[in-house]
Amino acid sequence: MATSQPNPSTRADSPHARGLVERLAERARAVTRRLDQILPPVSGSRGRVVEAMRYSALSGGKRLRPFLVMESADLFDVAPDNALQCAVAVEMIHCYSLIHDDLPAMDDSDLRRGRPTVHEAFDDATAILAGDGLLTEAFAVLADPRCHPDAAVRGELVAGLAAAAGTAGMVGGQMIDIAPERGELDLPGITNLQALKTGALITFSCEAGAILGRAEPRARQALVGYARDLGLAFQIVDDLLDFQSTPEELGKPTGQDEAAGKATFVGLLGPDCARAKAQDLIDSACARLDIFSEKADLLKRTARFVLERRS
Ligand code: IPE
Ligand code: IPE
Ligand code: MG
Ligand code: MG
Ligand code: MG
Repeated sequence: MATSQPNPSTRADSPHARGLVERLAERARAVTRRLDQILPPVSGSRGRVVEAMRYSALSGGKRLRPFLVMESADLFDVAPDNALQCAVAVEMIHCYSLIHDDLPAMDDSDLRRGRPTVHEAFDDATAILAGDGLLTEAFAVLADPRCHPDAAVRGELVAGLAAAAGTAGMVGGQMIDIAPERGELDLPGITNLQALKTGALITFSCEAGAILGRAEPRARQALVGYARDLGLAFQIVDDLLDFQSTPEELGKPTGQDEAAGKATFVGLLGPDCARAKAQDLIDSACARLDIFSEKADLLKRTARFVLERRS
């Protein structure tokens, strides 16, 4: 079983990183443990697809989305075990999206989280099926009573995750990202693309905490506002890292966006303006959490971490 732990590299001396890196790692370990319990064992004639699902889902990564679920849920004193179950469902969707994003028909990437991508380690058809398996089974994880005792809450989570991951969210964004006319997108067009392909799942991650905690509308909206800014900043930093980092540091290929003619803030604005835009978004994200006073300090530090991250 692969249980390599994430290495959320950032500037270790950063005041935002202190304590946060340990907490991220601790939560990531809990996510990996629960995933290991939930994913079926590798055996029998279907063993190969399960092995590929496990290869993807237990391979580390920052586990940022589950972290956001759990930290948002903490604002409303949600039972940690419920939040963890929901967080794992979100990470399964994220892992599926990475497997499919890396396929030759999409970004054609051979490296992910410092290891060969699933289609390189297995084959294209197995990678497609492993993604399908993670996507489908994520909804069973969310529908499990372990996620929340109230079926109405679970139903709201299922509908919310389906919307965030589907054509009005991530799938729609991925379609725009590879469309032939992608190179002609202007700033609002790129903002929409990023909000769909990356922002929707990050927004759901935070909103899920509010749904689990039956938060009042004002608190839920504040979290959604935070997550929208954070999601956009997250993808800008991802694009900056593609432009400026190395595969060794990043654990995935670099220079792919420009080579593929992808529409990014970095391509349109240049790296300095793109970074300034990400900084503004993070400032705005943090301001939206002021209604929670010091209870939201960790989510604010998470936003700063997103800006400083090196992988
Ligand atoms: C990568 O996401 C894909 C994007 C949406 C940009 P992450 O940078 O969160 O990937 P992992 O999970 O840490 O590997
Ligand atoms: C992918 O965006 C977003 C997903 C929905 C998976 P990227 O294609 O930029 O992600 P990386 O850089 O391969 O991780
Ligand atoms: Mg892509
Ligand atoms: Mg990609
Ligand atoms: Mg990228």
